[in-house]
Amino acid sequence: MTENHTFIQIRDLHKTFVMGRNIVRALDGVDLDIPANSFTVVMGPSGSGKSTLLYLLGGLDRVTSGSIRVDGQKLETMDENALAVYRRREVGFIFQSFNLVSSMSALENVSFPMRFAGISGLARRKRAAALLKQVGLENRARHKPTELSGGQQQRVAVARALVNNPRMILADEPTGNLDTGSGYAIMQLLSELHRGGRTVVVVSHDIRMSHFATHMVYLLDGKTVSEAEYQAASEFNPFETPAEARSETKADTKAEIKS
Ligand SMILES: Nc1ncnc2c1ncn2[C@@H]1O[C@H](COP(=O)(O)OP(=O)(O)OP(=O)(O)O)[C@@H](O)[C@H]1O
Ligand SMILES: [Mg+2]
Repeated sequence: MTENHTFIQIRDLHKTFVMGRNIVRALDGVDLDIPANSFTVVMGPSGSGKSTLLYLLGGLDRVTSGSIRVDGQKLETMDENALAVYRRREVGFIFQSFNLVSSMSALENVSFPMRFAGISGLARRKRAAALLKQVGLENRARHKPTELSGGQQQRVAVARALVNNPRMILADEPTGNLDTGSGYAIMQLLSELHRGGRTVVVVSHDIRMSHFATHMVYLLDGKTVSEAEYQAASEFNPFETPAEARSETKADTKAEIKS
């Protein structure tokens, strides 16, 4: 493996969404260095900004302020064409919900993104077949998504993500809709891609994913925090009221009833 220089450099990244009178600070000043050939797992509670971060990294959305450099390329200064080229060349994106085209077979789903890369029909089919073989689905090439299990659909999505040979794989809860066994197979597949030299960034709630990680990133309220801060915050479960507080609540209720 080559020496781990910084591949992705994020500085003072902000992403805000304006919702009427409210401003949602989805990312609120993120600084992050992700080394080349690393397997980075991003953890954080619902709404902490994980998907937002991944979408910005993948060039699927625009930053509000701050900078993202991928191997020196500044995403925030790219026009739409440059960003489209960046997405096609550098990024393989994997979604929780697979996002396959339902009318297309597995082979067609994988070969489809190559249309925009100026590759002939025969070469596209050959490469798609080879990628399906790599993910263990050579005997499911003609199946449509509804004729595949969830785990198989996600493997098609992984094959599709590899089609333009990107240096970076971004996956947003890729095992979130899968049973335990199929989820583990997807983790192993992502780990193989990492060992093959790609930079992998995965958002996941599945604790098993961290076994494959070389780097962990913890997000809370749009900010990166240390593991200790993250653990401390996770120990507080707002849905579970501690015994002391419960008796206080009872007393309060009684007092209210009395008065
Ligand atoms: N397009 C949008 N418009 C307005 N607000 C948004 C939009 N996208 C995300 N948000 C808000 O930004 C915050 C971060 O959202 P994000 O989807 O990044 O969270 P997440 O960490 O991926 O959560 P989950 O684990 O539930 O997927 C949330 O408060 C969300 O409501
Ligand atoms: Mg999300």
